[in-house]
Amino acid sequence: MSASAIDLQQRAPNFWQSTNGKKIVMAVTGFILFLFLIGHLLGNLLVYAGPERFNSYAEFLHFDGTLLWIARSILIIAVVLHIIATVQLAVRNKKARPVGYSRKKAINSSYASRTMYWSGPIVLAFVIFHLLEFTAGTIHPGTVFIPGDVYHNVVTGFQVWWVSAWYIIALILLGFHLRHGLWSMFQSFGVPHSLPRERANKRWALVVAVILIAGYISIPISVLTGLLK
Ligand code: HEM
Repeated sequence: MSASAIDLQQRAPNFWQSTNGKKIVMAVTGFILFLFLIGHLLGNLLVYAGPERFNSYAEFLHFDGTLLWIARSILIIAVVLHIIATVQLAVRNKKARPVGYSRKKAINSSYASRTMYWSGPIVLAFVIFHLLEFTAGTIHPGTVFIPGDVYHNVVTGFQVWWVSAWYIIALILLGFHLRHGLWSMFQSFGVPHSLPRERANKRWALVVAVILIAGYISIPISVLTGLLK
């Protein structure tokens, strides 16, 4: 084995064990998921172009099974690593201050950062429900799931008020999660650190999260208001 291969073998576990290594894994996997969210939103907005356009877009996504599964595998690995790194960092943080705060006053931590640990599991529950509803079709309240007729599945799915309500709530939580995640990412990779830069990072994270989530939420709202039928 070459010296550089041995070097890499020794460094990889050290990287994963270190707190900074885990933070980098969280940031990189979070970024991959963020890119997916942008692409998925752009695709979903085609729903406004009508059933034919939306269905042929969905058909296009499925045209090559191998490519589809490569993309799905990347997403699954990103989600799993994101969760493992988060849980391990949370455990590490807890161990670092075992006594706990006498008063849970948030110092330098925003509402979004405090909601990270519970918004994450809710978003995960949302994704599982979402896959069962629109990809597998095993849960499709209100009407039948028609494989290949994605427009029908989305519109009839959101005509059930509680499905739309659940989506809107989960998407708002995703927005909080995203806002804090993006801000942390900007902080980790942005140089140099300064108060104005930190404020700008916060502002940008908020703007990006609001645009993305508003785009997603517009779909159930358009169905509920009869704009999409
Ligand atoms: C209003 C919001 C959304 C709508 C209308 C929507 C619509 C859809 C539809 C129709 C599919 C099935 C595509 C097909 O099989 O042809 C799908 C798949 C999927 N969606 Fe969404 N989606 C929304 C939000 C989200 C969000 C916020 C996430 C992530 C947090 C997400 C993650 C996924 C994933 C992972 C898949 C499976 C992709 C695959 O491997 O086939 N979706 N979505």
